[in-house]
Amino acid sequence: MISYQQVTKRYGKSPTPAVNNLSFTVNPGEIVGFLGPNGAGKTTTIKMTVGLTRPDSGHVLVNDIDVQKNPLAVKQIIGYVPDSPEPFGRLTGREYIRFMADVFKVSKEERERRIPELLARFDLEDAFNDKLSGYSRGMKQKVTIIGSLIHNPDVWILDEPMVGLDPKSSHTLKETMRQHCDTGKVVLFSTHVLEVAERLCDRVLIINHGQLLASGTIDELRQQKGGGDSSLESLFLELTAQ
Ligand SMILES: Nc1ncnc2c1ncn2[C@@H]1O[C@H](COP(=O)(O)OP(=O)(O)OP(=O)(O)O)[C@@H](O)[C@H]1O
Ligand SMILES: [Mg+2]
Repeated sequence: MISYQQVTKRYGKSPTPAVNNLSFTVNPGEIVGFLGPNGAGKTTTIKMTVGLTRPDSGHVLVNDIDVQKNPLAVKQIIGYVPDSPEPFGRLTGREYIRFMADVFKVSKEERERRIPELLARFDLEDAFNDKLSGYSRGMKQKVTIIGSLIHNPDVWILDEPMVGLDPKSSHTLKETMRQHCDTGKVVLFSTHVLEVAERLCDRVLIINHGQLLASGTIDELRQQKGGGDSSLESLFLELTAQ
């Protein structure tokens, strides 16, 4: 579970906070889409959840562990795919995945089971012995996705994960996200692709200027806006108009 409790974060001396008194929860077994215009605060929120940047005030809890008080314990249960992954270019795919498995203390048996399965799923077997510096944008994305899943994390967080993926890989990723949450785990991802959010998510969170504008299923958001059959796109445009 992810729990945000009145979290505020300001970069440097900026007069406006990047994240402003934000509270929300994401429950086990739920895929939640994080939506909002450019600069809304999605990446900042994600970085605070994975322990890459600190809130100025408020609390971020992951499975009831406070990220600021116990960052290592939280990192062990999180899988994270950043918005523009640049895995160490000098390593081969095999070395990188082995490194990730070592960091997360994945047993030999588990590696032998999971690695071939994930490589086949994301069609990366042929490039596994090549250096990451020679990987294309989408291949880097896929090897990072595999690395983020190697320890079967309780909480899987992805920042605009479909960017750069071909249609088949994007489909595979969506399927994998659904399967992951169906085993009772948490999936939180940011996206600008509203059709993906609409089809895949159990719930969406819409933020702008670091503040939560809406949270709910698409149907709930429609009802809040007076019913009708508005698309997520028109709801999004209406909510973020100010
Ligand atoms: N490292 C940084 N230093 C200073 N300001 C930053 C930094 N990172 C983000 N910001 C500011 O914080 C605000 C939120 O940025 P953030 O990257 O969280 O937005 P986002 O919702 O992820 O946007 P996008 O959809 O473009 O990825 C923006 O005003 C941005 O300029
Ligand atoms: Mg971002």
